Amino acid sequence: MKSASADTLIDSFQQAGQGQVFRFWDQLDDSAKDALIEQASLIDLSEIDRLSNTLVLGQGHHGVDLTDLAPAPFIPLPKSGGDPAQWQAASAKGEEALKAGRVAAFTVAGGQGTRLGYDGPKGTYPVSPIRKATLFQVFAEKVLAARIRYGASIPWFLMTSNLNHEATEAFFKENDFFGLGADTVHFFKQGLMPAVDLEGKIILADKGEIAMSPDGHGGSLRALVRSGATTKMKEAGIDIISYFQVDNPLVKFLDPALIGFHIDAGSEMSSKMLPKAYSKEKVGHFCTQRGRTVVVEYSDMPDELTDQTNDNGELRYIAGSIAIHVLDRAFVEGMGGDNPDAALPFHRADKKVATVDANGEPFKPETPNGVKFEMFVFDALPFAKNPVIIETSRESDFAPVKNAEGLDSPQTCCEAQVAEFTAWANAAGAGIPVDEKGQPSFVFEITPKFADSEAAFIERWNSLDPKPEIKEGVILDA
Ligand code: UD1
Repeated sequence: MKSASADTLIDSFQQAGQGQVFRFWDQLDDSAKDALIEQASLIDLSEIDRLSNTLVLGQGHHGVDLTDLAPAPFIPLPKSGGDPAQWQAASAKGEEALKAGRVAAFTVAGGQGTRLGYDGPKGTYPVSPIRKATLFQVFAEKVLAARIRYGASIPWFLMTSNLNHEATEAFFKENDFFGLGADTVHFFKQGLMPAVDLEGKIILADKGEIAMSPDGHGGSLRALVRSGATTKMKEAGIDIISYFQVDNPLVKFLDPALIGFHIDAGSEMSSKMLPKAYSKEKVGHFCTQRGRTVVVEYSDMPDELTDQTNDNGELRYIAGSIAIHVLDRAFVEGMGGDNPDAALPFHRADKKVATVDANGEPFKPETPNGVKFEMFVFDALPFAKNPVIIETSRESDFAPVKNAEGLDSPQTCCEAQVAEFTAWANAAGAGIPVDEKGQPSFVFEITPKFADSEAAFIERWNSLDPKPEIKEGVILDA
């Protein structure tokens, strides 16, 4: 027997033209029925109806508004003509905020890592050159280093999804939270959205299971609020959130310069950019549009814009987003609440969604049969007051692991780490010979506990007597 509330729910799906979700209801046992009802109860049918009508069935659904775009201004690094005194002042201001305990670290780690072909939470992927420390370990050690440097507690928040939440928590437990203290690392799950077919009908993954997937990293704003993370932050006196992705071990999060520029400008959301390496690099493009800052994703940017050059031959849309931001907690509270005027838009992604055929038999499509809906965190930028974009350098901030081979692969990421370690060592006078790409002829590793920046390395190195020989396989640690 169905309960009255299950009846009402099934009815509402039928009314919304989504009755197919309960097509195999009579074949399900009681626990499968309960599970399906629980899943279905999480779906906002009016939201799905609106998204299906606009993004799936609507005219010109692939269209992103490209009118009135111009390249976004950014604050250049001193090496690119920026004012060194301004950068120093910004760093000092950011350091003050860090020392005052106003900043939390925040990682979005809810994605699937499909392109890498790795089966497990992406943060558990081993990336460092010799130790093979995982992404999570490298970030944890950077948080620890920052805590020591600034004498502040600096909590770390991680957003997971139903795909990897338990495995992520278990991994941290197994590793004793990498010495951070269990009570200073906070996990919460992001929201889910159902996939729909090309007619806007919600897809079943199995007879009693709806095909649900994470709602994109933009879902982090809702999830930070709904999970109570922003409340925890407020109670701890935190008003600035240092946001970064799980795939980039080089990332300088808790960056005092970015935090300082952000505070100085009275900004609600600020970001780092780097000059694109080539016109079609797969990064979002920072642009302005009718007075607001926006990011146009690489897949939406037409060739004539990606390739456009200035009179001096430089790419006009040069500013690539590497998904490193700082956000004001209060801004997140506003964006992640229920105000419909401050809601991130959804984007459409066409995917192959495993489903069941009319007989309930598993069916794996060979071409995209479904649409997933995702929000992107950078879509918060146009809502933010005074957004600031600062330049960073690739060598010290960006070497993501995205693909199994080729660009942005474990190999390029490892090389980038070794090149950065070598640059630090050589800045301290180690004199390691390098090739034209900055690579030494051997592999070694510096852990974030030994040094997490060039300045920290020089200080540490100068304090050592005798100094260790840097050669193949050496690990400079703690
Ligand atoms: C992303 C950005 C791109 C940027 C590039 C830099 C988008 C759409 N594009 O590309 O502008 O230049 O990174 O590396 O974001 N995630 C979740 N939940 C989700 C989906 C993703 O937590 O539902 C997390 C992932 O775990 C990962 C991050 O978001 O940490 C990025 O996701 P991914 O889909 O890999 O983005 P990219 O296409 O690589």
